[in-house]
Amino acid sequence: MSSTIDSILVESRVFMPSAETVSKAHISGMSAYKALCAEAEQDPDAFWSKLAREHLTWHKPFSKVLDESNAPFYTWFEDGELNVSENCLDVHLKNGNADKTALIFEADDGAVQRVTFRELLARVCRIANGIKAMGFGKGDRAIIYMPMSIEVIATMQACARLGLTHSVVFGGFSAKSLHQRIVDVGASLVITADAQMRGGRVIPLKAAVDEALTGAGSEVVKKVVVYRRAGTDVAWDEARDVWLHDIEEGQPDTCDPVAVEAEHPLFILYTSGSTGKPKGVQHASAGFLLWASVTSKWVFDAKPDDVFWCTADVGWVTGHSYIVYGTMAAGLTQVVFEGIPTYPDAGRFWQMIERHKVTIFYTAPTAIRSLIKASQAHPETHPERYDLSSLRLLGSVGEPINPEAWVWYYNNVGGGRCPVVDTWWQTETGGHILTPLPGATPLKPGSCTLPLPGISTSVVDEAGNEVPEGRGGLLVINRPWPAMIRTVWGDPDRFTSGYFPPELKGAYLAGDNAQRDKDGYYWIMGRTDDVLSVSGHRLGGTEIESALVSHELVAEAAVVGRPDATTGEAIVAFVMLKRPVPEGKEAEDIAGQLRDWVAREVGVIAKPRDIRFGNNLPKTRSGKIMRRLLRVVAEGKEVLQDVSTLENPDVLKQFTGVY
Ligand code: WTA
Repeated sequence: MSSTIDSILVESRVFMPSAETVSKAHISGMSAYKALCAEAEQDPDAFWSKLAREHLTWHKPFSKVLDESNAPFYTWFEDGELNVSENCLDVHLKNGNADKTALIFEADDGAVQRVTFRELLARVCRIANGIKAMGFGKGDRAIIYMPMSIEVIATMQACARLGLTHSVVFGGFSAKSLHQRIVDVGASLVITADAQMRGGRVIPLKAAVDEALTGAGSEVVKKVVVYRRAGTDVAWDEARDVWLHDIEEGQPDTCDPVAVEAEHPLFILYTSGSTGKPKGVQHASAGFLLWASVTSKWVFDAKPDDVFWCTADVGWVTGHSYIVYGTMAAGLTQVVFEGIPTYPDAGRFWQMIERHKVTIFYTAPTAIRSLIKASQAHPETHPERYDLSSLRLLGSVGEPINPEAWVWYYNNVGGGRCPVVDTWWQTETGGHILTPLPGATPLKPGSCTLPLPGISTSVVDEAGNEVPEGRGGLLVINRPWPAMIRTVWGDPDRFTSGYFPPELKGAYLAGDNAQRDKDGYYWIMGRTDDVLSVSGHRLGGTEIESALVSHELVAEAAVVGRPDATTGEAIVAFVMLKRPVPEGKEAEDIAGQLRDWVAREVGVIAKPRDIRFGNNLPKTRSGKIMRRLLRVVAEGKEVLQDVSTLENPDVLKQFTGVY
């Protein structure tokens, strides 16, 4: 843990919600927000139990709300039973919305496919019946490695319908990463596709699964279900592999939802921490769904005729909470996109908003920044060239949004009339934590503003004491909330030590630095650990380091992030080889090999941007690598800090060449 150096807040503009937005909002005005906060504070159990009764359909009602007896292993609504897929789909059929469009899927090549809630439920049931017929059910775990599609959403929902716990692996991770996750989670079922289509390219997925399943420990997998997306040739194991369309064939359109206990693990999603291998963040069925759907309604101010588009991939938590579960439980019509924002050109997002009359658009700052850049180079891709008048609300997620990008987004995409909700949260929090409410919160560009009702947050020092306003510190969440991480799969000690260090007296440690201003608004200053945020993707610096040192040429490596105007951070690797420091062509060749190696070991998304070579790494006398100094070098700056604690200060001068 380390706290940030205090920095001066430069942004002072405030944007008030319009009278129209306020008058129509679920939470209308700051007084309504404050009243809800007060209600939650006075009697948290009553607050949460009211929400859980109003927003969820239960098979067996709960009598207990929060159980703190085994803290920090909190449980919520423990004796209640429900089914998540029933809450996302069947409820809308019962409410007269059977023929409402649930999903508008736009493929990489622009082809569009729509499904209603009735059709989606039928599809989910056929897939669930197919999975059941192969002998899988509650207590089994499935790895899902699929492209953005109606099929991946239906498959996740089908797992939920049967009580199977899923673990989705983003398609940008390699066979090796997939193998690690299959083994760690103990998956008996893998669901994948032949290939995925992105930006006009065909990227094989089944081949990666085949490779992942040759590794030790992967014999736990009994079946591999394959969705035929691209029609490419794939290797086939007759005993193990089966097509998705074949398991659906002849199955009925109905499948009774399996009632599960509230705490039954809905999913395990791997994410990067400060050390070692990725951790499996385990989420419970009821608490997760409750907060994902309540925040969908509050923060996106969901209305029956909205068309909601979250551009995230379901391989990340944002896709879980705000595509597959929360927003679907809220009954929103959603756009789902297979491709990338720059194909066929950088106007793709704006063209899709125009085409599908999107009303709520939720994306990452990295996408906004790259589209700003693109629109400067290619004015025909500028949002002003499109009709974006359907939009009424914009959202941002995944990393801090710089005020310039915020204001551009607000003016050029939102036409100066759409509030921007800058939502701070994490894989571990399951849903939004700090965020404006569109019909209540005055907005300050670059601030994720205030905690949601029911959520108590603080900025503290390393001893757990609150720091004064305007001072940097550690962001903590003081009280448990229903959608919080339940444990790290298979490693409860890592859960307690990583998130609940004793100094913080029971508060949850988020791993971000933050500060509050005079209005109590939160400003996120970045991670306190070695977690990097590259194009909104959360990656572990230590994972990339381990990948590098496992290469035969590498003796030692350190990985840091360098600020990047588009991707947030760029990965910079400092490498000491087992041979003399290379230069010129040799250095370029080795850097190329190392990049390919990292792509194989971790995934293409983890390839270092810069590689710098030296004959050692800067270390303290106790042998600790000084990443703080490497960050300065990575930025191309001169190290002005005191280097007297270094064992080998001269080494800093070596890393001049960037490959
Ligand atoms: C960062 C993504 C600033 C933060 C939902 C957090 C943000 C990490 C914001 C979690 C935001 C997310 N402003 N930083 N609005 N949203 N972050 O688990 O560092 O992939 O700890 O969840 O992203 O990343 P994760």
